[in-house]
This record gives sequence, structure tokens and C-alpha cells, in this order.
Amino acid sequence: MSKLNIDTKIRLNNGIEIPQFGLGTYLNDNGRAAVDSMLYALEIGYRHIDTAAMYNNEREVGQAIRESEIPRQDVFVTTKLWNSDHGYQNTIDAFNRSLEKLQLDFVDLYLIHWPVEDIRLESWRALERLYADGLCKAVGVSNYMERHLNEILENFDVVPTVNQIEYSPFLYLKDLQQFCESKGVAVESYSPLTKGYRLQDSNLIEIANKYSKSTSQILIRWCLQKGVICIPKSSQKKHIKENAEIFDFEISDEDILRLDDLNEDYHSTWDPTDVK
Ligand SMILES: NC(=O)c1ccc[n+]([C@@H]2O[C@H](COP(=O)([O-])OP(=O)(O)OC[C@H]3O[C@@H](n4cnc5c(N)ncnc54)[C@H](OP(=O)(O)O)[C@@H]3O)[C@@H](O)[C@H]2O)c1
Repeated sequence: MSKLNIDTKIRLNNGIEIPQFGLGTYLNDNGRAAVDSMLYALEIGYRHIDTAAMYNNEREVGQAIRESEIPRQDVFVTTKLWNSDHGYQNTIDAFNRSLEKLQLDFVDLYLIHWPVEDIRLESWRALERLYADGLCKAVGVSNYMERHLNEILENFDVVPTVNQIEYSPFLYLKDLQQFCESKGVAVESYSPLTKGYRLQDSNLIEIANKYSKSTSQILIRWCLQKGVICIPKSSQKKHIKENAEIFDFEISDEDILRLDDLNEDYHSTWDPTDVK
């Protein structure tokens, strides 16, 4: 495995590169404090921020990027279409509202947040339009199971670049990952820290102690070694820093297997398994 660092990028199926490590921002929506935490992340080397219309913090994301004075093209920004905004024209309008809040000329990646039944293909048609118009550099989906992806692959020319799914050793979606990769769709892990719920797992603690790392750092490193994009969230500087201190060690193959074995189909967020 080549050496990973905070600037390691994954090339998406349309040639665009996404930093493999980024900052999640769900529930980090508290005005100035949110801007400060995101600004801090950018100062210490994060170059990828994940937001969504639903998180109500696109303004803060845009402001942090501007205040950082990092050139726009050097920061990768993802935002997402919320469930109540599906449909062709609604999607275009929702995207424009996101751009307005972010105060950006384009987003790097625009995702369908959830595979809303009956109408999601109309929304994908709108994403193709936004992509063709250059308003987003890449388009993708989130919470899509194999059948949801197949619908797009069978009906459209543009293949999603990314499927953002809940993914951790406690929810090791190996088959879905294999399917995505076989179709050229990169997997991105959300809730890589299980929202904090499994950080005290005794097996995980044992492995963390072995590497003198925290359990959060082990979970993030596991994702990266799986070749997956990873966006742990924190609003606290201490955790933002800790979560980025994962490039000075490597988990052995044997311990990767031990982590794989922690799988218990544990969802800390929502579960799209039964969405038609
Ligand atoms: N597409 C989707 O449907 C979807 C769903 C969920 C999430 N997401 C995206 O993925 C991102 C990450 O997922 P998530 O926010 O659900 O959960 P997560 O990243 O698994 O966990 C976040 C929680 O862990 C805590 N934490 C962070 N670093 C820590 C550390 N080093 N030690 C101890 N606790 C730590 C955070 O608290 P503090 O803030 O206090 O540090 C927060 O409570 C989201 O923010 C969002 O951008 C997408």
C-alpha cells in the first residue's frame, strides 16, 4: 500500500480527484463556532468538507473556506439534495439555493442524499444537467443499495462517481463495496466513528492500545486502508486534530481482519436496506 497522507486523493470515474480524508459537519451548525471549527480543520490541513442542505450549515462552510484564504480549487466541497427537494426542477432549484448559501461558483460533488422512492430518477436527470453545465465537478448518490444504483446504470449515461454510505467495522458492507467498485463508483464512509456509540468496544480498545492510538483513530485508519473515502465529524478542535493524526502508523493485515470481524450490521444513522 502506498503511504497515505492528509493530501492523498482518490481519482473518481470522471477524472476528478477527491481527498480521501475529510471533515463531516452534521450537527455543526452553530454559527461562529461552526465557522471556527471548520476554519481550524482547514488550517491544520483538511481539504475536504462534507455538508448538506439538511445540515443547515452551508453558509458556515462557505465562510470558513473564504476566511481560510485557501484557493477555492484546493478545497473539495460536497453538498447534498434533501429528500423534500426531489424532482427535476425542484432539484435544480435546491442546488441553486445551496450554491447561494455556500456563496460558491460551483460545488465539487453533489449527492442525492437518500434514494427517495418513485421520483429519484427525475432527480438524477437534474444532476446530469447540473454536471453538464459545470456547476458541479462530479455527481453521486448516498445511501444507495445495489438495486438503486442499477436503476441509474441502466437508464443513464453518467455513472455516479461516489456512493456515500454508512460504513465502519461494525457495519462492514463488503458486498456493496465490491459492487460499487466493480461499477467504478467510489465508496465514501459516513458515520465512520459510529457517531461515537461504539468507541468503547473492548476489542476495539485492545487494538487501539496496541498502536497507542485512540479508538476513533483506528476506525478512521481502517476506512482509509480499505480504500474508502472517510469524513469523520467533529465540532471540537481537540477531536478534529486527533482525527487527522492517523498518517504516522499502519494497521497490520492481521488487525485489519480482526476489525473486519467486528461487523454486526450496526447502523448508527439510518438504514436504506428496505427502500424500494
Ligand atoms: N449521507 C448521509 O446520509 C449521512 C449520514 C450521516 C452522516 N453523514 C456525513 O458523515 C459525517 C460523519 O458522520 P456522523 O456525523 O454521523 O458521525 P461520526 O463521524 O461517526 O461521529 C461523530 C461523533 O463522534 C464524536 N467524535 C468525533 N471525533 C471524536 C474523537 N476523536 N473522540 C471521541 N469522539 C469523537 C463527535 O463529537 P464532537 O463533535 O463533540 O467531537 C460526534 O458526536 C457527518 O457529519 C456528515 O457529514 C452523511
